[in-house]
Amino acid sequence: MTLRTWTYEDLNQIAALEQECFPAEPWTHQMLAESYLSERFYGILLEEDGAITAYGGIHTVEDEAELELIATSEMYRRCGRGKRILAALLKEAKKRGARRMFLEVRVSNASAMLMYLTNGFSGVYARSRYYPDGEDAIVMKKEL
Ligand SMILES: CC(C)(COP(=O)(O)OP(=O)(O)OC[C@H]1O[C@@H](n2cnc3c(N)ncnc32)[C@H](O)[C@@H]1OP(=O)(O)O)[C@@H](O)C(=O)NCCC(=O)NCCS
Repeated sequence: MTLRTWTYEDLNQIAALEQECFPAEPWTHQMLAESYLSERFYGILLEEDGAITAYGGIHTVEDEAELELIATSEMYRRCGRGKRILAALLKEAKKRGARRMFLEVRVSNASAMLMYLTNGFSGVYARSRYYPDGEDAIVMKKEL
């Protein structure tokens, strides 16, 4: 299992994983490319036998980082990959000078919310009807 930063060539595979993990609202190749090309973006992934099994990315502005995306391919979940990606992103955010990280999570997404809570995030407020289907988001924050 290799933990490494994204390359431009990874974006096709990540876009396919976005469709698998977020069928209602996947990041497209174009959205991924726009983020990837920003100096403020940092993306990390786990690669196993040539396939990407988990990935995540942050966007950092001054002392704040935003967790933009994180997912593990369905058949590889519950084995610590998400935690590993999150830890790498937190470490890089701190290195880039961020003092806190924010994220949004669907109120129904218990798996992700538990991952964030057990890794030091806490809920700060809800954003009503934040998602296109009308679901609310919980904004979570961790001091770095
Ligand atoms: C959220 C997600 C990234 C977690 O990835 P993962 O590789 O399964 O995560 P890990 O195995 O490292 O688990 C980390 C922690 O998350 C929590 N967790 C993950 N899946 C869980 C589940 N099905 N039920 C309960 N807790 C869960 C647990 O606290 C777990 O720690 P533990 O195994 O020590 O109990 C994964 O479920 C996923 O890709 N979901 C779809 C995409 C998504 O919702 N991304 C987040 C958007 S905000």
